Amino acid sequence: MAIIAPSILSADFSCLGKEVRAVVEAGADWIHIDVMDGHFVPNITIGPPVIKALRKITDLPFDVHLMIAQPEGYIADFVEAGANIISVHVEASTHLHRTLTEIRRLGCKPGVVLNPATPLETITYVLEEVDMVLLMTVNPGFGGQEFINAVSPKIEKLREIIDRLNLPVAIEVDGGANLETIAIMARAGADIFVAGSAIFNQPDYKAAISRLRTVVDR
Ligand code: DX5
Ligand code: ZN
Repeated sequence: MAIIAPSILSADFSCLGKEVRAVVEAGADWIHIDVMDGHFVPNITIGPPVIKALRKITDLPFDVHLMIAQPEGYIADFVEAGANIISVHVEASTHLHRTLTEIRRLGCKPGVVLNPATPLETITYVLEEVDMVLLMTVNPGFGGQEFINAVSPKIEKLREIIDRLNLPVAIEVDGGANLETIAIMARAGADIFVAGSAIFNQPDYKAAISRLRTVVDR
């Protein structure tokens, strides 16, 4: 069954705890947390103290998407804050293999993320180290952007590679999800679907999540 991971980037930050509780009650599977540093991406969001505070609200997996330069220096902080899955960008980590194995060593599940323009070949030699590959379907930095359709064949190709090698690696997709684009991503072979504005910009989170779920579980 597909996993739906609401991205709290589109939540109302003035009552973040309440917002997280609301999506938990609305049937979210994971909570997707976007960490941005104003260097790797042109936006700044939240860090470990906020994640630590949110950890008190739910036991659902925290899917922490690091959009920060040199993520290797901060892995322990995010583990300690209560992350379950930590994903780092190929484009941000020079010693990617080391960073990914460090995430596992510290007790979290490692994920590797690719920007839309980054080819799949860049992760060939780390595929066995990760639990998840996150394919960006927008350029990271902001919620509410338009889905980049050119990434669809990349999702298909990755599905093919993972199935051929029989690896226990899930495919997550992030950016521009709505009822139409999430169907495209599901057909291409994604397993985990991040959705920010498609959930938080709706009046009824439960209805929004179940509509998305109906499409991806079809
Ligand atoms: C973009 C973030 C996404 C974003 C998705 O940099 O990584 O997780 O919040 O938002 P939507 O679903 O609105 O495109
Ligand atoms: Zn994200």
